[in-house]
Amino acid sequence: MKVFRTVAEVREWRNGFKTVGYLPTMGALHKGHLSMVRKSILNNDATIVSIFVNPSQFSPTEDLDQYPRNLEGDVAKILECAKETNSEISEDSLAVFAPTVAEMYPSGIDLDISKQKGTFVDVLGCSNFLEGAIRPHFFRGVATVVTKLLNAVQANVAYFGQKDVQQTVVVRRLVKDLLIPTSIEISPIVREASGLAMSSRNEYLSADVRERAAVLYKGLQLAQKAFTAGDKSQKSLQEIVRNEINTESAIVDEIEYVSLNEPSFFQPKSEAAEKGDILSVAVRLVGGVRILDNIILE
Ligand code: PAJ
Repeated sequence: MKVFRTVAEVREWRNGFKTVGYLPTMGALHKGHLSMVRKSILNNDATIVSIFVNPSQFSPTEDLDQYPRNLEGDVAKILECAKETNSEISEDSLAVFAPTVAEMYPSGIDLDISKQKGTFVDVLGCSNFLEGAIRPHFFRGVATVVTKLLNAVQANVAYFGQKDVQQTVVVRRLVKDLLIPTSIEISPIVREASGLAMSSRNEYLSADVRERAAVLYKGLQLAQKAFTAGDKSQKSLQEIVRNEINTESAIVDEIEYVSLNEPSFFQPKSEAAEKGDILSVAVRLVGGVRILDNIILE
């Protein structure tokens, strides 16, 4: 399997294949990421995974330096997943793109937004509430790096996870608005046995907290049950999630939001809940780790 450091190497490799599937990540790969590697291998001639801890989506006070990094371990996981998916896979058809910060930011990058120079991408209308209100720099960083990465790789299809649902809306918009010829596929959330949505940041949690943090999903499932039974009130569905999370108040520092949004621009719903709406939740645990979860109402 190839590990590329430059955009030029990626483009040369990409030109050797008719269809390429691409998974952008920040590494510390888990089964959620690998489910998309598998999907890509099954549906394309070649698959590339980028591993880049993108500085511009972190604020100066966030965990950029602590974010787990293990390129060798990640490469081994991709290879193992590829062999399990297709034992005859040619290693030439698999690649990892692990660029340096300088390769991705030719004009340089400063975490302090007021000092940034160069080109950035802002997706208006869906970036300034929920995750965007709590992390005001975040979607600008994500939209900028995703635009650069999609331009670098020129894949036919790129895979994103439902776990970061607001991010999927931002990415869909930027691909449409900037006329980027890559189709976007969204994959379902992969969960730990407890029900907790897998996340690279779960590595920060103790075994006990990791188990108990499944309360987010339990709350969402209770809301789904109530919706199925006829409860269409967004207030009541949000209340059900909050009440369930409050049963684990010892591990919760703050429920940052419980929100019901429509799926196309992720606008907050003001009227009755409908099938297809997204119920999402963000919690800051004691100790500072943030965890997210969501369900699409069925
Ligand atoms: P990262 O957190 O590494 O996630 C990479 C992709 O995996 C994202 O699309 C994310 O939604 C998806 N993912 C994470 N956990 C998942 C789970 N449990 N089930 C299914 N999919 C899951 O998201 C990012 O990186 C970055 O913001 C990035 C898009 C790479 C830009 O820097």
